[in-house]
Amino acid sequence: MKELEQRIHAEITEKGGIPFSRFMERALYEPGLGYYETQREVGRSGDFYTSVSVGNLYGELLAFQFADWLVEIEGPVQLVEAGAHDGRLAKDVLMYLRNWRPELFERCEMVLWEPSGIHRQWQESVLADFSGKVKWVAELGSFNGVFYCNEFLDACPAERLIWKDDAWWLSLVESDGQSFGWGMRPGGNAKLGDQLTPEEGAIFTVGDYGMWQAACNSLKRGQLLLVDYGMREREFFDPPRENGTLRGYHGHRMVDDVLADPGEVDITASVNFTRVERIAEASGLEMVPLTRQSQYLVRLFEQTLQRPQLFPEWTSERTRQFQTLAHPEHLGHYFKFLECRRP
Ligand SMILES: C[S@@+](CC[C@H](N)C(=O)[O-])C[C@H]1O[C@@H](n2cnc3c(N)ncnc32)[C@H](O)[C@@H]1O
Repeated sequence: MKELEQRIHAEITEKGGIPFSRFMERALYEPGLGYYETQREVGRSGDFYTSVSVGNLYGELLAFQFADWLVEIEGPVQLVEAGAHDGRLAKDVLMYLRNWRPELFERCEMVLWEPSGIHRQWQESVLADFSGKVKWVAELGSFNGVFYCNEFLDACPAERLIWKDDAWWLSLVESDGQSFGWGMRPGGNAKLGDQLTPEEGAIFTVGDYGMWQAACNSLKRGQLLLVDYGMREREFFDPPRENGTLRGYHGHRMVDDVLADPGEVDITASVNFTRVERIAEASGLEMVPLTRQSQYLVRLFEQTLQRPQLFPEWTSERTRQFQTLAHPEHLGHYFKFLECRRP
């Protein structure tokens, strides 16, 4: 049995069942052993694939948009990224600004909000060209500028809840010493805002959106952009989803059992955009309607054609990347862009 599996079995034996969020936290983030602590490679050669892995274009297009937001703010500005993994998106953004908006690049600082020591090492090496421009923080202070994250909230530890006998129950992970299984106890908090009536046995996930809340509260002037897959709260229940939205992936394939092989499997929970919006609105931010990646990127593409002096040439390689990112049945469909700003 692998070291991480042994450690989790030991914790469960001692405590007699742990909430799923605790299992997910250890499976993904246990220093030196968790999935995201050991999987440096993103993309086809690695175990997981994101819009960032498609190529530099994604970062260039986002940076083109960020620049338009940043020019509205006078003086020093910050770009804050959470969940930067190996730092590749931050690098693509900084390269665009350095080459195409040098005056903004001069007054801009990149802040990576990063609790993981190993990620910081990966980021330092990928961003070596930008030393002096990048700062790492464990806590976010107030800032003027732009906060962004790509496929970050879905990877934050989530509670798994079950609707039973007209109440929410909290899923527990139990152990027989050899394998993990599910248990439950009354008392989960679904944090629902809407009046929704789940079917008996419905499974719901509640992610830890604490960092999103902190980002909303810390923004003094500027914008936030969250890109992820997920849905509105109502869609978690309608149509009914027997197994909820928790998923595990290994080697680009979906696995049936999210409890099998902790540390080897990427576990994700679809983002509840209704809750994300509620949090932003509660901290006084103004929402822009949720948009699919395809629509959002097509709009940016059109803007780059109107201002070619501010964007690199649309070579066949960029066009190929664009088609992948905006594909209406794949990345362009699943990923959604949630934007909000301090009025
Ligand atoms: C699916 S990966 C996405 C990586 C990258 N943003 C991309 O799009 O290629 C999720 C990332 O979020 C990071 N993450 C999760 N929780 C985090 C937290 N509390 N603070 C910072 N990063 C976190 C993970 O370590 C992982 O690198």
